[in-house]
Amino acid sequence: MNTITVKLQNHSYPIYVGEQLLQNPELILSHITGHQVLIVTQANVAQHYLSILKHGLSHLQCNEIILSDGEQAKNITEWQNIINVLLQSGHERTTTLIALGGGVVGDVTGFAAACYQRGVNHIQIPTTLIAQVDSAIGGKTAVNHSHGKNMIGAFHQPQCVITDVNVLKTLPNREFISGLAEIIKYGLICDAEFFAWLENNIEKLLSRDISTLLYAVSHSALQKANIVSQDEKEFGIRSLLNFGHTFGHALETACAYQNIFHGEAVALGMAMAAKLSASLSMISLTEYERIIQLLKKSELLKVQIQLPSASEMLTLMMRDKKVRAGKLNLILLNKIGQAIKVQDIVEAQIASAIESIRTDKLLSVREF
Ligand code: NAD
Ligand code: GLY
Repeated sequence: MNTITVKLQNHSYPIYVGEQLLQNPELILSHITGHQVLIVTQANVAQHYLSILKHGLSHLQCNEIILSDGEQAKNITEWQNIINVLLQSGHERTTTLIALGGGVVGDVTGFAAACYQRGVNHIQIPTTLIAQVDSAIGGKTAVNHSHGKNMIGAFHQPQCVITDVNVLKTLPNREFISGLAEIIKYGLICDAEFFAWLENNIEKLLSRDISTLLYAVSHSALQKANIVSQDEKEFGIRSLLNFGHTFGHALETACAYQNIFHGEAVALGMAMAAKLSASLSMISLTEYERIIQLLKKSELLKVQIQLPSASEMLTLMMRDKKVRAGKLNLILLNKIGQAIKVQDIVEAQIASAIESIRTDKLLSVREF
């Protein structure tokens, strides 16, 4: 098992990455201080892993709540359902919430933990690739509002993150592929060597070879932990993690979170940001082509829907949380392995990059 530490001034915590960690209750018990826990999960996850987790917690008051499925579960009603169960079951301030699931479960559970009695402990047990390499780490918690994604939330760090790569075996293929986008992101923004490793190992990763997965997940978690340790509240370097996301969130919003997965939207967003970086001569054409090739080999440049127009996307991008004084801050690439924040890009150049990816023949239709 690898242990990676998120080093924060007031609250450092471990990320455990390994195999069969759900079968090791000592690990989770060492981070539970009270006598009560509430497990928050979803049906798809519960059917495989809930009883294994509960087995080790049988001496505690252990309640559970099954959220509805999909991005639509990340809403204030599901958040309130969690608060209701906590109140109805008499949970005290010493309780621990356990998020057993993907990014949706992790984000809404973390936000409930941030708010219940002004903040209680929580543990993240991520079960999707996106959650293992990104969302479970770093304390960003939120629910969506009809006006935008993640519009209501808080920074609230977990007690620990327990990442068992074996649970990825049951993850549907499209969900797994979606997670590869966030892994590729680390190579692009801060680690050229890792990007090259991904180019050489993408087939093994797609086949979910366990040792390849262990390396990719641990390395990604380490990169995320390092960035969060330097900038917990996103005043600086943490914003680089948004590479591809301003475009991606606009895509998700335009599609009303239907027919496009988060990682797929991020991958298209990274392609658009790479195109813009190339058109501004920040990266070479060869680097741009390497990026597109890796995204394509990862089966990420497949779409099921008609992508929104560049002007529709630009309107949505201007609503992003990263807009300051009406100006878009975009994360672009200086080279593979080095991202920077850029302001004042002419809108027409952004639109042209969007349009170029949107209409590119490299996009293929996703079949089911
Ligand atoms: P998800 O949480 O919706 O999970 C996808 C599906 O897979 C669900 O149906 C779920 O029940 C199922 N599932 C989960 N684990 C499984 C397993 N092991 N076996 C079988 N089925 C399983 O999707 P996601 O991609 O994990 O998360 C996306 C969300 O994460 C978005 O809301 C996004 O905004 C958020 N996110 C947050 C951060 C952050 O920093 N907080 C970072 C990235 C993404
Ligand atoms: N997923 C972006 C962040 O955690 O900052």
